[in-house]
Amino acid sequence: MRTPIIAGNWKMHKTVSQAVELCRKLEAALQDSPVEVVVCPPFTALSAAFALGMSKVKLGAQNMYAADKGAYTGEISPVMLKDVGCQYVILGHSERRQYFKEDDEFVAEKAAKAFEYGIKPIICVGESLEQRRAGQTTEIVVTQTKGALAKITPDQISDVVIAYEPIWAIGTGENATGADANEVIGTIRATIAELFGQDKADQVRIQYGGSVKPENIAEFMHQPEIDGALVGGASLSADDFIKIVQYK
Ligand code: 13P
Repeated sequence: MRTPIIAGNWKMHKTVSQAVELCRKLEAALQDSPVEVVVCPPFTALSAAFALGMSKVKLGAQNMYAADKGAYTGEISPVMLKDVGCQYVILGHSERRQYFKEDDEFVAEKAAKAFEYGIKPIICVGESLEQRRAGQTTEIVVTQTKGALAKITPDQISDVVIAYEPIWAIGTGENATGADANEVIGTIRATIAELFGQDKADQVRIQYGGSVKPENIAEFMHQPEIDGALVGGASLSADDFIKIVQYK
């Protein structure tokens, strides 16, 4: 049985005080949830969130650089993330790929580096609208999955989380259907099975992301291949994110 994992990607939102307030509300409301709950605030709020000493809500970062330290102006290392309590790090988000030109090879390097410090990667894959219309969805997600996992060992793979985020569904209010997402996620799992064997693939949690809301979360969570969600906009509201985690 895979434990469902629902993560909030706050992107470039929330000041320190706003982040603290949101964390407090989530920690108080979600204690009894069987779902693993992760929030990924901006870097500036991680330290204050860690200082809350939360027991239920885990912390993740939205990105990191693939080096321990050094002359990389503006970058954040896994050592620094570990220092502020991060257990997860989102890697290869489509916004990083699109605006900051990150490719699969770079994502693979970061994922391997994260594991050196015991930080679990949430690796994002997903096709654009153009690619979907051209019938390239499978090819794109298989290539991205293989590329991002290139440096992952058989010992590590069960701690990897994959987030399938079709780019056309991100922040658009247009979500994939549960059945569609389930099919693509099944393909991602088959790809992992090809690389690491079926037993390992059955342990990997694969999330759906893209316009997840309280109104549609159940449709995704009830699909057999979908093990959670990576939530953007709706994770900025305590009420909405609590409803999402408490889906029925
Ligand atoms: P939205 O939930 O705002 O569509 O964002 C999804 C996402 O990019 C999460 O990483």
